[in-house]
Amino acid sequence: MLDLIDKHKIPSHVAIIMDGNGRWAKERDKDRLFGHQHGVISVKEVVEGCAEIGIKYLTLYAFSTENWNRPENEVKGLMELLVATIRKEAESLNKNGVRLWVIGDLDCLPENCKAELLEATELTKDNTKLNVILALSYSSKWEITNAVKQIAEKIKNNELQVDDINEEVFASFLTTKNFPDPELMIRTSGEHRISNFLLYQMAYSELYFTHTHWPDFRKKNLYEAILNFQNRERRFGKISEQLY
Ligand code: IPE
Ligand code: IPE
Ligand code: MG
Repeated sequence: MLDLIDKHKIPSHVAIIMDGNGRWAKERDKDRLFGHQHGVISVKEVVEGCAEIGIKYLTLYAFSTENWNRPENEVKGLMELLVATIRKEAESLNKNGVRLWVIGDLDCLPENCKAELLEATELTKDNTKLNVILALSYSSKWEITNAVKQIAEKIKNNELQVDDINEEVFASFLTTKNFPDPELMIRTSGEHRISNFLLYQMAYSELYFTHTHWPDFRKKNLYEAILNFQNRERRFGKISEQLY
């Protein structure tokens, strides 16, 4: 698989909706949290896989704004898993040149979780090999509304003029201001929807859906998605003949 991938056409940013942990667990007669725990193995695989082929940005949808509405024990379990995983992995991420970022409404997260994330993002802030962006308590509607509020505030205070607003300026108020837009979005587990993820940023992303549940997702599944991406014609509104 790896040898089929064109090293000159690697997407710089891949975003993943890691879905299907619950169904994976159910198929094994286990608790949903068992699925989430196994999902961590897939995260490690994919981070490694991205580093190996030179992807620069990997955004992982780990917890949506809507996920706060799940049963209390699942939310609690997910937060604990997050804290434990960051604590366990931060050092090795750092050694491997990974810079960790977090996007989302972090004020909603438990204090110990915020503290752990802050420590890991601080520890890894000088790394440049691969940027791993965790979308936590994230939703696009929250993000866009928040950007509009900040812009309105600036206009009210005369720090920004209406005529100065353009796509670039708008994007600079999004939580993703430090990253390029994803060229490829992968969603596991068969659902064909975006679930409030990076709506603005994915305006021209290639979308890839696989039936594989997230806990079964391995490097080879990532490479399959990259290969599929490389065989697409990205026209950006033009016609084929204009591209070559
Ligand atoms: C994705 O798996 C993980 C999170 C949303 C936190 P799910 O928990 O959504 O698994 P399914 O979709 O119920 O199988
Ligand atoms: C999207 O998955 C959110 C994450 C993967 C974190 P969900 O399982 O919450 O999405 P829906 O509810 O099926 O759309
Ligand atoms: Mg799901």
